[in-house]
Amino acid sequence: MWIVIDDIVYDVTDFAKRHPGGQAPLRNLSGKSCSWQFHKIHSRHTLESLGAELRVGRTSDVPNPYKEPKPTLIQQL
Ligand code: HEM
Repeated sequence: MWIVIDDIVYDVTDFAKRHPGGQAPLRNLSGKSCSWQFHKIHSRHTLESLGAELRVGRTSDVPNPYKEPKPTLIQQL
C-alpha cells in the first residue's frame, strides 16, 4: 500500500498496523496524493524520523482527489 506526500512515494503496508491514526486513513488514501491532509495533522518532524524507512522514491502529477477546504473571509479585520 503506497501513498504520496509532496511527490514522494511511501510504502505504508507494514506501518499502517502501527500508525497512531489507524489503518483507515491510509487505506482510503492509498495510491493517491494526500499532501495537504498529511500536513494538516502531522508535524513536519514526523517524516524526518519515520520517513526514511518508508520512502520508496519520487513521483509527479499524482492527483489528490480531495480539494483542500479554504476558509471564506466574511469580514476584513
Ligand atoms: C508516511 C505517512 C504517515 C506517517 C509516517 C504518519 C505518522 C503518524 C504519527 C507519528 C502520528 C502521531 C502524531 C504525530 O507524531 O504527528 C500520526 C497520527 C495520525 N495520522 Fe498519520 N502518518 C502518515 C500518514 C497519514 C495520512 C495520509 C493520514 C490521513 C490524512 C493520517 C492521519 C493521521 C491521524 C488522523 C492521526 C491521529 C491524530 C491524533 O489523534 O491526534 N496519517 N501519524
